[in-house]
Amino acid sequence: MNAEILQPVFDSVPGMISMEEGLYLYELASKCTKGVIVEIGSNAGRSTICLAKGSKAGGQLGGVTVYSVDPHNGGGATPDPTWYDAGASGTPDKKYYINQGVGFNAFKERLNQHHVQDIVFPLVDYSELAYKKGWDRPVELLFIDADHRYNYVKMDLELWGKHLIPGATLLMHDSTYTGVRRVINEMVISNPRFTDIRETPIFTAKVVGV
Ligand SMILES: C[S@@+](CC[C@H](N)C(=O)[O-])C[C@H]1O[C@@H](n2cnc3c(N)ncnc32)[C@H](O)[C@@H]1O
Repeated sequence: MNAEILQPVFDSVPGMISMEEGLYLYELASKCTKGVIVEIGSNAGRSTICLAKGSKAGGQLGGVTVYSVDPHNGGGATPDPTWYDAGASGTPDKKYYINQGVGFNAFKERLNQHHVQDIVFPLVDYSELAYKKGWDRPVELLFIDADHRYNYVKMDLELWGKHLIPGATLLMHDSTYTGVRRVINEMVISNPRFTDIRETPIFTAKVVGV
């Protein structure tokens, strides 16, 4: 049933999640009522739309907001600060930003196409910078799928994870990647704050509490 709802998303939005993972995001999002949903790493919007459709389907009063964090610059990785120092003038590497508008416009078009633009709030920036603009909302579902290098995954969880409410769900994609797994081992599995850990279809941990 829900696969039928998500099939048009998978047919038209490129992405890195499978249908099984999309259904899982949809189902978890549909249960959120007490806090918002945060996704770090949206790319073209496939997972964002699965979360948004789930939130709308399950939510009272139209569902909880999905905050999607991504610079939409067409690149996959957080810029190395040394790139900013490249060249005698110290001018930032313009190439890094070349796709910024195109990426975000395409993302917005896909939200419109799938009728979830009203429930998705894009934070168009790198995770750390978006967070430091003053994030203060309680988070009931956190999906981390951005820069998979250890330092960045760790920072994503340290910053946004502070806002997970009791009973909230943490999801970490690509959990077999070295950096992601190291964060899971160091910060989640051995952490008494988390319970109900499962590995599939997406690494999941619940925050202790109701
Ligand atoms: C694996 S893709 C996300 C895939 C997406 N969840 C899907 O359903 O297809 C990773 C995304 O993370 C973004 N990204 C990379 N570094 C980031 C950072 N520091 N903060 C936020 N997003 C970042 C990239 O722009 C890219 O779109």
